[in-house]
Order: sequence, then structure tokens, then C-alpha cells
Amino acid sequence: MSKKAFIFDLDGVIVDTAKYHFLAWRKLANSMGFDFTHEQNEQLKGVSRVKSLEKILAWGNKSVSEDEFIKFMAQKNDDYLIYIEKMEAQEILPDVTKTLDYLSAANQHIALGSASKNARMILEKVNLLEKFDVLVDGNDVTKAKPDPEVFLIAAQQLHTNPENCIVFEDAVAGIQAANTAGMVSIGIGDKKTLHESDYVFKDFTEISEAFLKELINR
Ligand code: BG6
Ligand code: MG
Repeated sequence: MSKKAFIFDLDGVIVDTAKYHFLAWRKLANSMGFDFTHEQNEQLKGVSRVKSLEKILAWGNKSVSEDEFIKFMAQKNDDYLIYIEKMEAQEILPDVTKTLDYLSAANQHIALGSASKNARMILEKVNLLEKFDVLVDGNDVTKAKPDPEVFLIAAQQLHTNPENCIVFEDAVAGIQAANTAGMVSIGIGDKKTLHESDYVFKDFTEISEAFLKELINR
């Protein structure tokens, strides 16, 4: 069997924290007197904290000072962390652990490639930290997805080439990042939304061991 690198996004792929990001951002928008839709929220997935706030302020037609911008980001993160602190292993999405264990038994590289600055803490909370060979998160990158930087750093740290990497992503921006990096992109979620992916599955329960084996040997 050959050795590939499987790079997992965190939010919306390993755990359903996308709903917590949404709730926390929405609370902030509501406090400024406007709201945004689930459809608009799709555009926030995979996007950095700074970029997310920029988009939300644009939707609400608000302009704020630099100090206020920083204050709002901190406020959102504080609200988000209230949800995160209560997280436990039960919140790992279906068959994620099974997939990680299969890949690890098959002697494959496993990496995290997330935009989140809270990634390490979340993996600790749900007890998955030790399953990853390499962790690249929002603290390591200068360019947000759809820039491929986060995935390229993961490949570099694993001493492997992009063409040996397979990325699992729930965000359009993340799929674009994987494609630009020259990696195999696997969308987790809605087929229509993630149509730019090489493959799309609703969740990991749809991903068979035979398919994983095929990815390893391709
Ligand atoms: C991504 C999420 O994984 O991380 C985004 O999909 C989020 O919604 C981004 O904004 C940054 O996360 P954090 O935890 O650093 O605010
Ligand atoms: Mg995500």
C-alpha cells in the first residue's frame, strides 16, 4: 500500500461546530440590528474570523472603527467558546472516528487543515488530538481559504507532495483551496453546493473502506 496524506478540515467535517459559528455570528449581527440567512452563512464556512466579520458587516451595511472591529471579533469568539467549552466526544460527526482509525491502521498520514484558531482546543475537547500527525490551523497561516496555504503547509510538514494529498472539506472555499493546491478534493455535505469537488458525500457514513483503499492506491 502506498502512503498518502489525508487532510481533514475541522469545522463541519469532524465536528458540527458550523452551527455554533452561525449562532455566535448571528447574535452579533442581531445586536447591531440586522440578520442574515443560512444561505449567506454558507459563505462564512471555511472563511477566517476577520473575513467573516467583513462579510457580515457588508451584509448589514455597517462600517465600524478598527477598535470596534477587534471588539466584535472578540465578542463573537467569547460567545462561540461558550458552546465549545461544553463539547464532548459525542459531537464527533458520524463515522469520522472510524475513518481516522481505518486510515491510521492502513499506515496513512493524517493531518488537520483548518482556518480556526480554536482547532487544537476543540480536538482536545472531543479527544481526537492524538489521532493527527500534523496540525495546521488558523494560527499558522497568513492567507485564508480559498488560498491553498493551509493545505500546502500540511503537505510540507508531512514531507509529501500535493498530488499525494486528499482533502476532506465542507466549505466551498476549502474545496477551492484543495483544488488550487493540486490535491484530491472530497466534499462533505450538499452535492449542489460542493459541485467543484472531485467527489461529494453527504457524510462519512457514505464513504466505504473500499473507496478509502482506492484513494490510498491510486
Ligand atoms: C473555519 C470555520 O473552520 O474557521 C469558519 O468554517 C471560522 O466559520 C474559521 O470563521 C475561523 O475560526 P475561529 O475559531 O478561529 O474563529
Ligand atoms: Mg469547515
